This record gives sequence, C-alpha cells and structure tokens, in this order.
Amino acid sequence: MEFMQNGQNMGEGIESWNEVMLVYNAALKQVQTKMEILNDEFQHVHQYNPIEHIKARIKTAESIVKKLKRYGKESTIQNMIEFVNDIAGIRVICSFSSDIYRIAAMIEEQKDIKVITTKDYITYPKASGYRSYHMIVTVPVYLSDRIVDTKVEIQIRTVAQDFWASLEHKIHYKFEGEAPEHIRSELVECARMVSDLDARMLALNEEILELSQQK
Ligand code: GTP
Ligand code: MG
Repeated sequence: MEFMQNGQNMGEGIESWNEVMLVYNAALKQVQTKMEILNDEFQHVHQYNPIEHIKARIKTAESIVKKLKRYGKESTIQNMIEFVNDIAGIRVICSFSSDIYRIAAMIEEQKDIKVITTKDYITYPKASGYRSYHMIVTVPVYLSDRIVDTKVEIQIRTVAQDFWASLEHKIHYKFEGEAPEHIRSELVECARMVSDLDARMLALNEEILELSQQK
C-alpha cells in the first residue's frame, strides 16, 4: 500500500511514515509506563493492584488504510494523523468494574495528558453488548527539536468484559459484521451475564475487604 507523502502540508513538521511511526511508538510507551507507575503507586498506598494487565499495539498500515477508506479519506500521512485516533492503542484490563472509573480519573489528573474525548460504554453499552471505557488522549512526545502532541486511544475494561470483546470481535470479523441473528442475540445474553458476573465479583470483593478491615 502506498502512502502519499508529496505536497502534503505536514503542519506539525512530521514528514515520513517512519518518523510518524516512531512518534506513535514513543507515545504508546509513555502511556504504558504511566499506567504501570500508577499501578505501582496504587499498590504501595492501598496494597491493591487496580490493573490486571496492559496490552499495547500500533495499528498496522493495512488497517490504517482500511479505516481511511471507510472514512472516505485519501491515504495520506496528514489524514492518518488527523482522522485515525487509534494508531497507538492501549488496553488496560482490570479486575473489578469499580477500577475502571478509578483508572480513568487517574489518567485525567495527569498534567501532561490531554483528554480529547471519552466514550462511556460501561454506563451506556453498545447494542452489540460491548462494554468498555474509551479515552482518546494526547501525550507530548519530546523530539530533539520539537514537542509533538500525539494521540493514543485508551480502552479500559474488566477481564470478563475483555473476554467477551475478544470473542465478539472474532465472530464479527468472521461474519464480516453479518453474524446470524441467533449468534448475535446469544452474544447480547452473554454480555448481560458478564455484567452480572462483574457486579457479583465486585460485591464479593467488597465484602472480603470489609471483613479483613474488621480484623
Ligand atoms: P472505530 O472507527 O471502529 O474505531 O469506531 P469509533 O471511532 O466509533 O470508536 P468506538 O469508540 O466506538 O470504537 C473504538 C474501538 O473500540 C474499536 O476499534 C474496537 O476496538 C472497540 N469496539 C467498539 N465497539 C465494539 C464492539 O461492539 N465489539 C468489540 N469487540 N469491540 C468494539
Ligand atoms: Mg478503533
């Protein structure tokens, strides 16, 4: 696939595919490290890890082109910087649903992170049954001669929600978005069970915490 690199107004001074990817990689690393530090600090203060694990990925050139096509945009570097918000993507997986907003709040409080948009699919799940908390943020990447504010998509969800999303994604991909009705309704039912499971596990955990504080 070809990215047009000539005659584009790069605005921020970014010129080549490799340079763009270097910057997104740096942004991803920074956000990942920030998450790890918050987790370590939380463990230190509260003897508890809100984060179960973290997955980070850079979008492939193929998916970037596909997305730009879906948006009706030409495959230019300028367009990908402007319109594709999830070139750098990080998924923060936590144990309990209460951790999700806690993590989101900690991200928002970071002085050098700018929150561009948030989508709360926890309170307002998608019709598919999808639950997750999404943030598009920017972090400053320090290059030798300038600072580039770079977008990173952060998805926060529980282990159970992540389990559901992985299977749903596989099915969605397999049927190219046209899964049979009985599969779709079964997925919605599973999402309901996941939500119920998360609520019960949270209640259990809170009860355990209360008991151990009384001792
Ligand atoms: P995209 O253009 O697909 O990125 O969607 P959007 O710009 O409307 O953003 P949205 O926040 O809805 O989705 C962003 C990302 O969340 C997607 O790229 C997926 O990784 C994930 N996602 C959103 N909806 C679903 C869903 O129904 N099922 C699964 N498995 N993942 C989803
Ligand atoms: Mg996306």
